[in-house]
Order: sequence, then structure tokens, then C-alpha cells
Amino acid sequence: MNEKKLIKQREPASSFITQKSVAKRLDGIGEYYFSQKLREIEELNKAEKKVINLGIGSPDMPPHPDVIKTLYTEALKPDQHAYQNYKGNIVLRNAISAWYKKWYNVNLNPDTEILPLIGSKEGIMHICMTYINEGTLVLIPNPGYPTYKSAATIAGGNVKEYTLTKENNWFPDFEQLEQIIINAKSPDKSVFRRGGLMFVNYPHMPTGKLPIKEIFIQLVDFAKKYDILICHDNPYSFILNDNPRSMLEVEGAMDVVVELNSLSKSHNMAGWRVGLLAGAKERIDEIIRFKSNMDSGMFLPVQLAAAKALDLGQDWHDELNVIYNKRRKKVFKLLRLLNCSFDENQAGLFVWAAIPSDFKDGYQLSDKVLYGSNVFITPGGIFGSAGDNYIRVSLCSSEEKFDEAIDRISANLS
Ligand SMILES: Cc1ncc(COP(=O)(O)O)c(C=O)c1O
Repeated sequence: MNEKKLIKQREPASSFITQKSVAKRLDGIGEYYFSQKLREIEELNKAEKKVINLGIGSPDMPPHPDVIKTLYTEALKPDQHAYQNYKGNIVLRNAISAWYKKWYNVNLNPDTEILPLIGSKEGIMHICMTYINEGTLVLIPNPGYPTYKSAATIAGGNVKEYTLTKENNWFPDFEQLEQIIINAKSPDKSVFRRGGLMFVNYPHMPTGKLPIKEIFIQLVDFAKKYDILICHDNPYSFILNDNPRSMLEVEGAMDVVVELNSLSKSHNMAGWRVGLLAGAKERIDEIIRFKSNMDSGMFLPVQLAAAKALDLGQDWHDELNVIYNKRRKKVFKLLRLLNCSFDENQAGLFVWAAIPSDFKDGYQLSDKVLYGSNVFITPGGIFGSAGDNYIRVSLCSSEEKFDEAIDRISANLS
């Protein structure tokens, strides 16, 4: 039978396919904001606008040369290319255990209390799929990393936001949290006695707020009182911060906390996709039941290179922080030009700033700077309604780029 005839005889696509019906679980879940915005910026660049993108927190510098060398030499070996153990290679798990001991003074058993991840973002989804039933209460910070909300919603959770405010130092308001729990208990009282989940993230993105041990202790006590599992998301503890902390350092935390961590920011390895989950053996075993059905492990040379990265000393972090510090001074200058106000002691890869009152919200200011000066800065509202009057500027560009952004914005003001 010739090809033309064959094509004629084929059935048209079913209405299911033509309508592109997507599953109900995606109701209310849009494309990730940055993926949409990057398309718009691409269009502006096609029109020669040469937009300076100060939006995304993707480190622009490379990992340490020894890390790249390890990847290269390991990848050259003929026997490094097979599927990997679902729990990650022991060399990496040992390195993670030593890293947690050295920097956070937390003891983790490399055989049972560590799960390497393909970036910490996937861990958020694994945790949601492991613990959330239809209607399970999930507490997420507002403002906060948008993925908590989308992952918890996809998993069927009853997502409730707890508000962080400048007045309360961007820390949770425990009275508000209790109120949310009391209200959410009815109509299904059983829901909260088993399996409630709460996302916590310090140093906090987007506000840059550093944790204090007292808050971690209060959170652990709170989780015990209400039978909540806390997922502490901790990817920023080494950036512009001399005192990295883990929530697992709190006595009794392993009973109620799992912690996500990542090499994306601290080791300039965002594209490599290396993160980890730390927690009690029972939690790791539970989460592996989901994750082992999702992927088949991480490329071994990447794991060995990540182990190398985790062995880097204070010098590595100091060198990075010198650079981020210089950039941050430029960002302060840029923000002052825009009459924004901000705290100078923020950790992490961004500066979070309150907009002046002559703008309706951060979206309006962001659009003005994008269309007027071809500089993109992130409107705070994408992190939740409590961020509406803020903008967030990423430190992941060179000083020259910040100078140029400042020049463009000044030119547009005059
Ligand atoms: C708060 C927060 N958590 C998690 C992630 C995800 O990081 P990773 O690259 O490890 O997936 C990000 C990335 O921007 C983040 O800002």
C-alpha cells in the first residue's frame, strides 16, 4: 500500500485529543510565570530591544573547575553510563552527610536519612504526591515560591496561605496559623490529625529574610502540637549569609521536618539539577515509594561531581559572596533610582524592595521599566498577594549589566 493511500484511510483524531482536554487537576494551574515572561522578552529581543533580564535567580557563573573536571573525567570512563541506584550513589550520600555535619552541625545517616534529588524543585512535587490526599490541608507562605502552591494543588490539597508581613519580620504569625487550622478542621475533623503539610523557607525567597533559631524551634513545636509535617526548603543558606542554618538542627525536628536543599545556588549548578532531601528514615522510605516511580536516578558523573562540589571550603563561598555583595550595591543604586525602599541585610540571590506609593502595584512598576527601559524586574505579586507592593531584583547578572540597567533607567527618568 502506498503512503498516500495509508494517510487517507487513517481515522481523524478523536474529540478528546482535538479539544486538548487536560486533567482536572490542572484547573487553576497556569504556565509558570517565568516561562511566559521569557517568551515575551524573546519577542522584544527579536525587535532588537536587548532586554536586560534581572528576573530569574539562575547563577550566571560556572561551578568550581574541579567539579567540571570530575564530570568530564568520570564521563570518559566506559562504565559510568548505566541506570543508577534510586537512593543515589553512596559517594554523594556520604558527601551530603559530611556537608550537613560541617556547615549545619546536623548528623544524617548517609544510608537512611538522605535522598539525592534531580534539583530540589522535584522534591516539592514528590513530597506533595506522597502526603497529600484530596482535601489535605497544606499551608504555604504568602509571599512564597509559587511551586508550593501549584504542586500542592496538583496533588489535590486544600491549600491555605499564611501571610508573612514586614511588620512581623517576614516570620509566620502563629495566631493566624492556628486560626487557619481551626477553620480548616471542619467539616472533616480527621483531615488534620493525619497528614497536614506546611511549607517553610528560610532564608526566605523572595524577601531574603534570614532564619533565627527561635523561629525554627517555634515551628517544630507547632508542627508537633498540630501533627503537621513541615517541609523546610533551604536552597539559599550560603548566599550572602555567614551563618548557614538547617531546621534539622532543632532538637526533635527529625520527627516533624523534612528538609530540601540544593546545589543550584550555592555551587552555581542550577542547570545540573542536583538537590537533596534530608529527613527521618521513615520519611525517606515513604517519599522513595513515589520518586522511584518517577525517574531512574541521576547520571553517575553528575553525582560524583556534586560530591566534589560539596567538599569545597569556605573560600569558595567567600569568593561568590564578594561578587554578589558588589552586585547588590549596584542593585541598591538601581532601586534608589526607582524610589523603592528595602532592607540592606537580605540573604539569597535577590533584593526585595517596596515600591513607591505612586504605583498601583509591582506589576505596574515592572511593566514601566520593561517597556520604558528594556530592563525586566520581577513584580512581587507573582509570589502571592502579600507581595503586590514589592518588586524583586535578581543578583545573577554582571556588574556591567547592572551599570547598563542603571543608565537605561536614569535616561528614561530624565
Ligand atoms: C525557594 C526555592 N525553592 C526551590 C527552588 C528550586 O531549586 P532547584 O534548582 O534546586 O530545583 C528555587 C529556585 O528558584 C527556589 O527559589
